Formats: sequence, C-alpha cells, structure tokens
Amino acid sequence: MISELIKIGIIASGSGSNAEAIMEACEEGGVKGKGKVVVLISNKKDAYCLKRAENHNIPAILIQSKDFKGTREDYDKLVVEALKKYDVQLVCLAGYMRLVSPYFLETFKDSVLNIHPALLPSFPGMHGYKDAIDYGVKISGCTVHFVDEKMDHGPIIVQKTLEVKFEDTEETLKERGLILEHEAFPEAVQLFCEDRLEIIGRKVKIKRKDK
Ligand code: GAR
Repeated sequence: MISELIKIGIIASGSGSNAEAIMEACEEGGVKGKGKVVVLISNKKDAYCLKRAENHNIPAILIQSKDFKGTREDYDKLVVEALKKYDVQLVCLAGYMRLVSPYFLETFKDSVLNIHPALLPSFPGMHGYKDAIDYGVKISGCTVHFVDEKMDHGPIIVQKTLEVKFEDTEETLKERGLILEHEAFPEAVQLFCEDRLEIIGRKVKIKRKDK
C-alpha cells in the first residue's frame, strides 16, 4: 500500500533557509515520498522565505502582522484558515518570530514543530546564538521541538551540538549553526511523517522504523 504524503505548511519570518532545507528534503532528501510542502506563509512583507517558496513552486502567502489591528488569536485565525485551505497536517515554524496562540495549537494538536538556535532549555528567545556567546558556553547547538503554549518549551525531538570557539561572533556561530539546523529540522520532519514520534509527558519517544 502506498501511504499518503503528509501535507506540510511552513511559517517563517525571515530568510527561510530552514524552510528551504525542508522543501529540499521533501523533493530529494529523507522526506521524499513521505511529506510534501504545500504552502509557505510569512508574516513579513519582502521576507526572502516567500521567494524561496516561489522558486520551489510552492504557494507563498503573505499575512502581514505589522499594523494588524486584531488580537493574536484573530491573526492566527487567518493563518489557520490559509493552512486549512491546503489541508495542512504538519506545521513547521521555521524562523517564525511570533508566539502562536492556544487556538492555533488546539487546531493543530501535537503537530506544530519549531526550530530554536540553542540547546533548550538554555537560551530561549530571539537571540539563541548571541546569548550562548555572551554567556560563555563552550557547547551550543540547535533544537527541534513540539510547540506548546510556552515559548521555546515543548517536548524535544532532535538536538545537535556545536562547539563555541573563543573568537566566535554571533555571525560565525550562526553560520555553523545553520548547517546543523538544516540537518536537524528535516530529520524531525521525516520522523513525524514516518509516524515515529510519541509524546510521553515532556519526553518524545522515537519509535523504531517499520520493517
Ligand atoms: C534560525 O537560526 C532559527 O533557528 C531562528 O531564526 C533563524 C531563521 O533562519 N529561530 C529563532 O530564533 C526562533 N526563536 P532562516 O530564516 O534562514 O531559517
């Protein structure tokens, strides 16, 4: 039996290099034949992630958050509506610099993943690489996790580590960190699409691959 492709929606605010890594993994990497990116949504006008989606022939939708008059939930209703139009089953927050509302999480229960540029629970927030350097840690990395109501908090799926050198700046650490992020996020997406993730309390069990 050929199982159905999981329909993936990506939400991003910036350059979209993680979004593109997921698109490529669906086209020719480990997610091929298991998942398919069906839409990318950005809250930022002129964000390069929109262009990247277009380059991959994926619908790119702008739902601008700047000057939006309603509540966070009102905004999320527009996003959810767009994701539903494309029958999205898995939502990937790929450099999305906003918190999603409880309404959003209820709609996509246990189906929203986020990438964070630090080894959570260290350095949550907007500046993971900079905060790691400023603190003086020797090891940092990235984390892909299920999203829950708290910021950068949900059960962890994949983490990858990175040595922090004395000379590192935010830019140099980010440059090396992004290489790891581009491996970590597709790995987590692949596990989700293979139905191999089980959330047990705060922990994620990675189930064995079906033979
Ligand atoms: C990535 O480093 C991602 O981990 C980070 O934003 C960058 C987006 O890059 N996300 C966060 O800081 C979320 N708290 P990209 O647009 O090139 O994928």
